[in-house]
Amino acid sequence: MKNTVTTLSAMKEKGEKISMLTCYDYTTACLMEEAGINAILIGDSLGMTMMGYKDTLPVTVDDIIHHCASVSRGLNNTFLVADMPFMSYQASVEDAVKNAGRLIKEGHAQAVKLEGGATVCDQIRAITKADIPVVAHIGLTPQSINAFGGFKVQGKNIERAIQILEDAKAVEEAGAFMVTLECVPEELATLISKELTIPTIGIGAGAGCDGQVLVYQDMLGMFSGFKPKFVKHFANIGEEMKNAFKAYDSEVKAKTFPSAEHNFAIDKEVMEAVRAADNSTEFKVEFEKETV
Ligand code: KIV
Repeated sequence: MKNTVTTLSAMKEKGEKISMLTCYDYTTACLMEEAGINAILIGDSLGMTMMGYKDTLPVTVDDIIHHCASVSRGLNNTFLVADMPFMSYQASVEDAVKNAGRLIKEGHAQAVKLEGGATVCDQIRAITKADIPVVAHIGLTPQSINAFGGFKVQGKNIERAIQILEDAKAVEEAGAFMVTLECVPEELATLISKELTIPTIGIGAGAGCDGQVLVYQDMLGMFSGFKPKFVKHFANIGEEMKNAFKAYDSEVKAKTFPSAEHNFAIDKEVMEAVRAADNSTEFKVEFEKETV
């Protein structure tokens, strides 16, 4: 079944949970599509997972377009959302609409996601007015890392918890069709999910959300260092990959790879003609030594 804004909204009405993962390349996109994941996010987390930056701030619209277009080629039924990177929408409503348009036209996304609550409602209104569906993102918004003073759970005190609830209502009212809740205490996220008519997608926000999103390298166990509390390793692909790389390295050095089954044959006469045409004596001596 093709996932669209309509089917995703209907899933909330029917009480069916929405699965979403980040993705940044064609091969992984094909696998996620085959697995039946409902939606893919080209997160600006690609700055960290794919480009090695320490946070998401340096990511550009062109970076997102590059990865989004690659992923789009692997999808038929999975809904594709592109993140609006830092400073692609904050400075003006006009920037927001133009950059959202590029993500749709050049990245082939079906919706855009932007961080912030009441403060970005003008942008959400303008983008939806251009018929581009918007996913809002509230709670911990990594583009505000310098203002927050680090990656911390949000909404633990009364003032901030009420602000997150109000942000959720504001983005719905402004026209967002879905909202991501990041690092929000479970009870607050559950309350927000009940209050809103649009689906909530949680990451570190508990099971009361209408759907879940994870960064795929996190859920596949591809990072050996820090594991955030909200991440579950559904596989240990990092270890598998490392073992495969080590085995390859050993076999290349031991000359056991490639073996006969991996090689291409050539007709004897063709090879003889090549040798006859080759006037390098060095090669001939080497060849004769090897064939004795
Ligand atoms: O950039 C990203 O991957 C995200 C998810 C963490 C929701 O915004």
